Amino acid sequence: MALLTNVIPEVNLPVVAAGGIVDGRGIAAALLMGADGVQMGSRFLLTEECGLHPNAKARIIQAVDTDSVATGVSRGHGVRGLKNAFTDKYLTLEASGAPQAELDQLATGTSRLAAVEGDVENGLVQVGQSLIPLREIRPVREVLETVMTEARRLLTQAPEIVKR
Ligand SMILES: Cc1cc2nc3c(=O)[nH]c(=O)nc-3n(C[C@H](O)[C@H](O)[C@H](O)COP(=O)(O)O)c2cc1C
Repeated sequence: MALLTNVIPEVNLPVVAAGGIVDGRGIAAALLMGADGVQMGSRFLLTEECGLHPNAKARIIQAVDTDSVATGVSRGHGVRGLKNAFTDKYLTLEASGAPQAELDQLATGTSRLAAVEGDVENGLVQVGQSLIPLREIRPVREVLETVMTEARRLLTQAPEIVKR
């Protein structure tokens, strides 16, 4: 919301909104804010077609909003994922002022560990912050049809808000 508020009036370019959009509500809101389109990442992790390891998909389904953490923010290159043994260790070292080389060594290979090998404690399950609606694995066609139908319905109903 803050980015859309600040950026859209200032640029003469198509704006694609991204971050936390997982359903038709988010799409409708972004379009009403003046975005030209949206880019959704996390939502598509929970599709049948996505090759993410089943352990990581299951961990995302179990996760709630407070399970989201970002590593590396204090070093200028944050990466968001689910809180686990790896992120606890990384964040403790990061806060203690550990050398970047030590942090890099700890993080190397952790995306693959979770996404390919299925170790969701020692690997990083990369996913965004809108976790609560992510509750089931569905075919990508169904996901797209559902979010687009909901966005169209909400945008069609928007004039009713003005009348309240
Ligand atoms: C598994 C995964 C890996 C990602 N890798 C990168 C990356 O390497 N670089 C980057 O700029 N963004 C990366 N992103 C962010 C996406 O490009 C996108 O901006 C983000 O997923 C949108 O927010 P959402 O996941 O809440 O829909 C990644 C997202 C996910 C879920």
